[in-house]
Amino acid sequence: ILNNNEQEKRSAGEKAVDFIKDGMTVGLGTGSTVYWLIQKLGKRVSEGLKVKCIPTSIHTERLAMNLEIPIVTFNEIDKIDIAIDGADEVDKDLNVIKGGGGALVREKIIAEFADQFIVIVDQKKLSEQLGKHFLPVEVTPFGWQATAKYIANLGCQVKLREEDEKIFVSDNDNYILDCYFEKIEDAAKLNEKIKMITGVVDTGLFIDMVDLCIVGKGSDTEIIKK
Ligand code: A5P
Repeated sequence: ILNNNEQEKRSAGEKAVDFIKDGMTVGLGTGSTVYWLIQKLGKRVSEGLKVKCIPTSIHTERLAMNLEIPIVTFNEIDKIDIAIDGADEVDKDLNVIKGGGGALVREKIIAEFADQFIVIVDQKKLSEQLGKHFLPVEVTPFGWQATAKYIANLGCQVKLREEDEKIFVSDNDNYILDCYFEKIEDAAKLNEKIKMITGVVDTGLFIDMVDLCIVGKGSDTEIIKK
């Protein structure tokens, strides 16, 4: 039996499969909500649905391969029809913070290239104004200390992400700085300012990218359109 939060992730993840049509190339996100999407998609594929999937992380690639979901790379495709991913926080304009799992750069490359980008969340992720969740920023290992100082000057506390007492390394062999802002007044401007810093690869702010948000509500869902 799932707790309510997990049930909402499951409802949102499974609902998203309805948007995947035969023949589509699909960007597959990362995280505990996407887990449910992948399980259901695996079932549909075993029943004959034809798709090609491009994963946003090594973790997702493994999950999909275990279910025999066809995987492709950018070498084999020239477009992505739809990308579906989780999020850490979603505001009322469907701007989001992502990267809690450290996959933000691949996630952003795939979301940006997709014709349609859908996020799937439980109700706890909804927020009036972004900033409840810390902002993950991927940076080059070289000089990360300097990069962290420039980001801190924008008004936040910066923490180098660690896992099991070791520095966390992304799928792109970079580091993640988790940035704690009191609140984020202008997310678009902040995204631009951080991206201008040389050692920054990208930020977890996905501005004006989401077309549709599926929110789990118990065993039901609500769809919020841009
Ligand atoms: C991964 O880097 C993140 O962007 C995830 O998409 C985000 O953290 C949502 O994950 P959950 O669905 O596990 O909350």
